Amino acid sequence: MRVVIRKDYEAMSKTAAEIVARLVRSKPDCVLGLATGSTPVGLYQELARMCKEEGLDFSRVTTFNLDEYFGLSPDHPQSYRYFMNDNLFNHINIKKENTHVPDGTVSLDKVEEFCASYEKMIKEAGGIDLQVLGIGGDGHIAFNEPGSSLASRTRLIALEEQTRIDNARFFDSLDEVPRAALSMGVGTILEAKCCLFLANGRKKAGVVAESIEGPITSQITASALQLHPNTIAIIEEEAASELKRKEYYLYAEKMWKELGKSMI
Ligand code: F6R
Repeated sequence: MRVVIRKDYEAMSKTAAEIVARLVRSKPDCVLGLATGSTPVGLYQELARMCKEEGLDFSRVTTFNLDEYFGLSPDHPQSYRYFMNDNLFNHINIKKENTHVPDGTVSLDKVEEFCASYEKMIKEAGGIDLQVLGIGGDGHIAFNEPGSSLASRTRLIALEEQTRIDNARFFDSLDEVPRAALSMGVGTILEAKCCLFLANGRKKAGVVAESIEGPITSQITASALQLHPNTIAIIEEEAASELKRKEYYLYAEKMWKELGKSMI
């Protein structure tokens, strides 16, 4: 894993945006995997700015989101479809028909069929070129809660109480936070050609260190990224504060620069 440490949230977001923009410029019909939550908001703002001010062209880009709350319709203000429209899609020149978020309104008896079709759509689009990821307080990527198989695929999953508490800030009360979600699996995520793993904030420091430097375990599904041959972790300084090999990561980036190459 290439670990890049940035001094604050803004710098983390800018570095992430540079990586996404480079892909969009070199492969205009690329497939992006996207995440919701607080972590990627700065990245999306920077991409929107690049689209507006620098003409970064999303007209041929396809996107697939990691997850959606089960039971929330796309027009629900806390749905991930709503979040994506509001934070990114409405601000860039992407074709809405090229954006995909799992359908939270699918009926229980159709869930498996829907999840299989979501996986199929990803494959038919040529697979995900770059997957943006955040990390939950319990170490989840997408909604792969502790205990999710590292080979798991898109499916319906019950949310941990801690995840619901963490996400209650977006709802009027904890009771309103859905108890389940449709989520890409760890196995689905590991098939992306590149993973862009972002984390910020002191609260994430412990789980970030466990994911990057701890053992690979289904108890912290982000640790599965250690198995991925092309993951770039962009970690803001506070979230990086418990990394034991922090000095090495900083040194490695400096060394690449001195050699005239970028580590990212
Ligand atoms: C959201 C997602 C989740 C979040 C994680 C962190 O699509 O897949 O794994 O990335 O829960 O959320 P924030 O960024 O709000 O701390």
